[in-house]
Amino acid sequence: MFEQMQKAEGDKILALMGLYRADERANKIDLGVGVYKDSQGQTPIMTSIGKAENWQISHQASKTYVGLAGDVGFNDAITRLALGNDYDKSRIRTQQAPGGSGALRIIAEMLAGAKEGATIWVPDPTWPNHMPIFGTAGLTIKTYPYFNAETGQVRFDDMAEALKAIPEQDIVLLHGCCHNPTGANLTIDEWKIVGEILVERNLLPFIDIAYQGFGDGLEADAAGLRHLAGVVPEMVVALSCSKNFAVYCDRVGAAILMGRNGDEADKAISQLALVARKSYSMPPNHGAAVVRTILESDELRGEWQTELESMRLRMLTLRTGLADALRQKTNSERFDFVAEHRGMFSRLGLTAAQVDQLREQHAIYMVGDSRINVAGLPDDGLDELAAAIASVL
Ligand code: LMR
Repeated sequence: MFEQMQKAEGDKILALMGLYRADERANKIDLGVGVYKDSQGQTPIMTSIGKAENWQISHQASKTYVGLAGDVGFNDAITRLALGNDYDKSRIRTQQAPGGSGALRIIAEMLAGAKEGATIWVPDPTWPNHMPIFGTAGLTIKTYPYFNAETGQVRFDDMAEALKAIPEQDIVLLHGCCHNPTGANLTIDEWKIVGEILVERNLLPFIDIAYQGFGDGLEADAAGLRHLAGVVPEMVVALSCSKNFAVYCDRVGAAILMGRNGDEADKAISQLALVARKSYSMPPNHGAAVVRTILESDELRGEWQTELESMRLRMLTLRTGLADALRQKTNSERFDFVAEHRGMFSRLGLTAAQVDQLREQHAIYMVGDSRINVAGLPDDGLDELAAAIASVL
């Protein structure tokens, strides 16, 4: 059987991780995969997570199956983290998922099963793994304009025009905050316009929120999502805890469904549970239980929020530092957008050849489309980094 197979072309982000690890140059800089790093270049376990894990391990009495929906306490707490305390509970159902990717996949498969030829519109550009996930799940994929590479801004007018032309009942993918890969985000007024178009055109919003707390703060980063929850009749959300709780390898995520009413929400969640059962059955428990432990304890929650906020502020400082250094080294304002972007990423607008040159000659690793992970920037090496970038322009 295997002899008939072609070698698969690996995921570019993960391939870059491998290249970086194999590079023996001492001065190498990893701006590739979206993993938070501290000033030592480490991705430590958050102190609040460590405490919750200890508590969890000493109190867990059994490892029996939990159920298809996963940890219901986690589902409740994470839904409140995303939607706030005032959402309409009667219409919302949540199912724990194996990471944000798992949530994207099961929701997509549920939607593909609900409607023949179901089509999803994704921003151009979007996270490269969106396409394989949605395509494999059976959705047809189309794109709408999102980013102006020249200015580093959202092409909002073009985006709004394109959304107005999407056929009724199609699905529209929106990044809840901290757009990956560009770092350019919608303002709350733009979210409101998007909400009007979605309602007018009878389109289903599919929100991918993987970086809540990394942009403008936990509440501000959820503002667009919460606004939509108040105006659209139906919505689906794929949420990841990988980054904001730094539980990457524990695979903690959630699929949140909002129906027109409780009956429809129940039908949808029953379909979602079936998709999960057919794919992996039940989600892993440990990480979700740890996140729940944090969110249910005032003390641990406070500690986690402080840690998260310091990660966010560190990324903002690095953004300003890099924008300043690039302004100086290039003698231009070309890269000023880096300071305005929010979240973990910015796309610098370099060519693939320039990205290769940076990797080969300067041991600087970024994704081929020139996306950088801001958290990987070296605190005390921004001038050298900016000089290297300027040298390849
Ligand atoms: C990224 O975009 O780098 C992260 O979301 C990690 C991944 O799985 O691609």
